Amino acid sequence: MLPQALLLVILMNINVASTSNIIKTLPGFRGDLPFKLETGYVGVGAMDAVQLFYYFFESEGSPEYDPLVLWLNEGPGCSTFFGFVYENLGPLSFDYLNSIGNKPKLKLNPYSRTKMNLWALDSHMQKLNISDTLSAVQTYEFLRKWLMDQPKFYNNPLYIAGDSYSGITLPIVVQEISDGNRDEHLPPMNLKGYVIGNPVTDTQIDRNYRSMKRNCKGEYMNVDLNNTLCVDDLEVYNERSIKEWEICNKTLQDLYISDVSSSLVYHENLIKQGYRVLIYSGDHDMNIPYVSTMGWIESLNLTVDSRWKPWFLHEQVAGLGAGHTAPEYKPEECC
Ligand SMILES: *[C@@H]1O[C@H](CO)[C@@H](O)[C@H](O)[C@H]1NC(C)=O
Ligand SMILES: *[C@@H]1O[C@H](CO)[C@@H](O)[C@H](O)[C@H]1NC(C)=O
Ligand SMILES: *[C@@H]1O[C@H](CO)[C@@H](O)[C@H](O)[C@H]1NC(C)=O
Ligand SMILES: *[C@@H]1O[C@H](CO)[C@@H](O)[C@H](O)[C@H]1NC(C)=O
Repeated sequence: MLPQALLLVILMNINVASTSNIIKTLPGFRGDLPFKLETGYVGVGAMDAVQLFYYFFESEGSPEYDPLVLWLNEGPGCSTFFGFVYENLGPLSFDYLNSIGNKPKLKLNPYSRTKMNLWALDSHMQKLNISDTLSAVQTYEFLRKWLMDQPKFYNNPLYIAGDSYSGITLPIVVQEISDGNRDEHLPPMNLKGYVIGNPVTDTQIDRNYRSMKRNCKGEYMNVDLNNTLCVDDLEVYNERSIKEWEICNKTLQDLYISDVSSSLVYHENLIKQGYRVLIYSGDHDMNIPYVSTMGWIESLNLTVDSRWKPWFLHEQVAGLGAGHTAPEYKPEECC
């Protein structure tokens, strides 16, 4: 048996690598939190110089068996707090009725998706040279370090999830994990697949569709040559401009380096390797219109096992009417 003193030293060593706290109460929420919330920082990069902040909600089902899901934050400079509170991921939401002035109150979220073990990670809230590829590498390092400290989760099925701009970085993170498993990096990760919503995927495809939808009014074949806006849109764009993110820090946004213009090749590769992939789209989205998402899915030439069909919620056809961040608009249909 390990002497107690030695055990203590080992535990202390582990705590040096990252700082984590179990949060028992939060301002604006009455009483103790009725779920297990851990928050903290994990250092990544040379000398752990970059400290990534995360929330970890332990599953309210059976944490020892439920999947582990890593939710990535949206666009550059955007906090993952957005997903946690507005996109109904986490077990809390704002209680607008009872909030006074700038003192928000929190209430339990009936649409919480915490029947799984869920991290929400601020994956690229940093100033120095942060880019798509670096962010993916750091996110993988975060996962390795966090799991290293929590071996009880080694065998849980692992999924990576996110929406919007994470459509670019997320498939690269999945590829990193897959390559790491192949190269027998520790700890082994039980990677099963990934989930993306209204994903930025290929800046050229997305931007063309976005603008064409607006200016060409759905008519792309017999273009009215007098509609100069539409004609301009049909030309190829080189620069990218996806700048309409909410609750995001403009300074960090401007410092972010977009060095990957398409994640399509990662999807192609990962799908071939047999990972499970769920792609959903809010249909009322002018930024990443679902037609562009359908367009690139079709370009992968996959075989169709089961055709589109309506599905129902409260005896109504469901799945229509959501905006860019679908779970924000349709929480019940999305969880
Ligand atoms: C950021 O990138 C620039 C140019 O590539 C380089 O000169 C600089 O050393 C980098 N800074 C850090 C902190 O990595
Ligand atoms: C474009 O505008 C010209 C001049 O106003 C007009 O003669 C022509 O019929 C228009 N073309 C279409 C397709 O509307
Ligand atoms: C945005 O980020 C910069 C750089 O980290 C920081 O100085 C600034 O205070 C942040 N702005 C807001 C509104 O949080
Ligand atoms: C899909 O099929 C088209 C037409 O046959 C082909 O040009 C394209 O390269 C294929 N794409 C992939 C990803 O296999």
